[in-house]
Amino acid sequence: MCGIVGYNGKEKKSKEILIEGLKKLEYRGYDSAGIALKENNKITITKAKGKIKNLEEKLNENTTTLGIGHTRWATHGEPNEINSHPHQVGNITIVHNGIIENYKELKKELIEKKYEFKSETDTEVACALIDYYYNLELDIKKALAKFIDKVKGAYALGILVKNDDKLYSIRKDCPLVIGQGKTGNLIASDILAISNNAEKICYLEENTIAEITDKEVKLYNKNLEEIKPIFKEIPQGEYTTDKCGYEHYMLKEIHEQPKVFKNTTDKYVQNEIESLKKEMPDFKNYNKIHIVACGSAYHTGLVGKNLIEEYANIPVEVEIASEYRYKKNFYDENTLLIVVSQSGETADTLAALRKAKNDSIDTLAIVNVKNSTIAREAKYVLTTEAGPEIAVATTKAYSAQVATFGLIALNMALEKNIIKKEELTQILKEIKELPIQIENTINNCNYKEIANSIYERDDIFFIGRGIDYALCMEGSLKLKEISYIHSQAYAAGELKHGTISLVENNTPVIGIITEQNLKDKTISNIEEVKSRGAKTIIITNDNNIKNYDYITYLPKVHKILQPLLTVLPLQLISYEVARLRNCDIDKPKNLAKSVTVE
Ligand code: AGP
Repeated sequence: MCGIVGYNGKEKKSKEILIEGLKKLEYRGYDSAGIALKENNKITITKAKGKIKNLEEKLNENTTTLGIGHTRWATHGEPNEINSHPHQVGNITIVHNGIIENYKELKKELIEKKYEFKSETDTEVACALIDYYYNLELDIKKALAKFIDKVKGAYALGILVKNDDKLYSIRKDCPLVIGQGKTGNLIASDILAISNNAEKICYLEENTIAEITDKEVKLYNKNLEEIKPIFKEIPQGEYTTDKCGYEHYMLKEIHEQPKVFKNTTDKYVQNEIESLKKEMPDFKNYNKIHIVACGSAYHTGLVGKNLIEEYANIPVEVEIASEYRYKKNFYDENTLLIVVSQSGETADTLAALRKAKNDSIDTLAIVNVKNSTIAREAKYVLTTEAGPEIAVATTKAYSAQVATFGLIALNMALEKNIIKKEELTQILKEIKELPIQIENTINNCNYKEIANSIYERDDIFFIGRGIDYALCMEGSLKLKEISYIHSQAYAAGELKHGTISLVENNTPVIGIITEQNLKDKTISNIEEVKSRGAKTIIITNDNNIKNYDYITYLPKVHKILQPLLTVLPLQLISYEVARLRNCDIDKPKNLAKSVTVE
């Protein structure tokens, strides 16, 4: 994934701007970091293993007007200083986000041309290839045009060239934004990294070469024809990117959910049915829905499937994007493909979207990062109003996506006259009241005592039926990704077909029971594990359920809204367990917030 940033300015402050940008990009990877500062044709490279603060400790007061920086999520070669960026070969110094798929063949060809390599990275091979073409053409733009034709894979590059005071950049599949600021021009993987130093931004399109001086930005297509850059004001949001006094971004973002739910649903319920219809695509044409995404976004699709099938009576298939993009998809002109993504940059989800588009299938994207690649390429877009989500483990964006699926199911049910006016009015009333219930549930949840009783365990199970099983999937992932405890979500009725053999004395089993019509069935499954000594933790909206080790009672609301309350104790328990295990909650090991490689 990695994050890249670059600055070419009138003022000597590249080090400060690069470090500030890298700190904002650290959610994209934190295996190592490095910067290259250029002055009077001298390029000084500083790298460090681990977090940005390790790099800062190695830097002296020297700063320049031109530089590039990188924070790494290792794909090729272990996290160490040699493999960290920037990489320099001959006249060329680069930082890279993405994966060069044909780097092995390229490396072989370059070794035959007497190039030697210090690192195990695909990036150093890319750097050498650019140097090779540059020596051939003595023109960096011609060299980059050749590079674009030769290389397979995904990349966003920041490039410095000896004897040249310009900053260059190219991209394919990986995100890159160019910023125009008072003191200079910038590049970055994400607006957040440069929003303090740029007033206007422009998205670098695929296979486009950017040539950036401290005064202007020029763009060229790969035939080196000049293209006019379209700059626009940086969108100002109401959310801040600081912790507002919370110990971790994850806890802050959990507490932002009442506001996020209101902001995400407001535009659809302003004036009742009208806005619900107006703000959504016309779903009448579709008799089949495919939902495709990764990780937690995929889990929101499981909730979406349950609600759309129940309320709109349309068959829904939910698929993991990395599988969907390489399999037969059995869709046709009456199928709608819905992709879900917080970042809007997840490589597998983007590829699934592009595949369906190529097959002329209508696409709807539910995204949180407006102007992201997925948002820009989907036919229809529904943006969630969660604001910047910094913690790697998603919470508020997950809830905003679930809320949006609830409204899609409602809209479809309306279109098909399946839902009666009274029920709709009741739901719209509950939507207005839900922010309070979310707040109360967060503030009154007994998650600390539950976390205290399970944080030393090595295996934890989540069981539920129907929509509760979909919530179990998210609860289990949340716990795994930030506390490193192995956990598994299971359809409650499936446990006895094998996995129950793992349940022994005190094995924590978290049972979710909010589906009334499935309550008794789920209770009998919980009784099965209880009789084998499991520690039973129940999350339910039924106050009659009693006699388990721990019970978290939730307000009972309409089924379309219940998941937005059920997920809260799952998020809080995971957070507290990770805190008790002293885990790096906002930046779990081996993870990154936006997965821009396959
Ligand atoms: C969730 O906490 C993880 N960060 C991860 O599973 C995430 O949901 C997945 O990578 C998809 O990301 P996206 O929503 O940005 O596409």
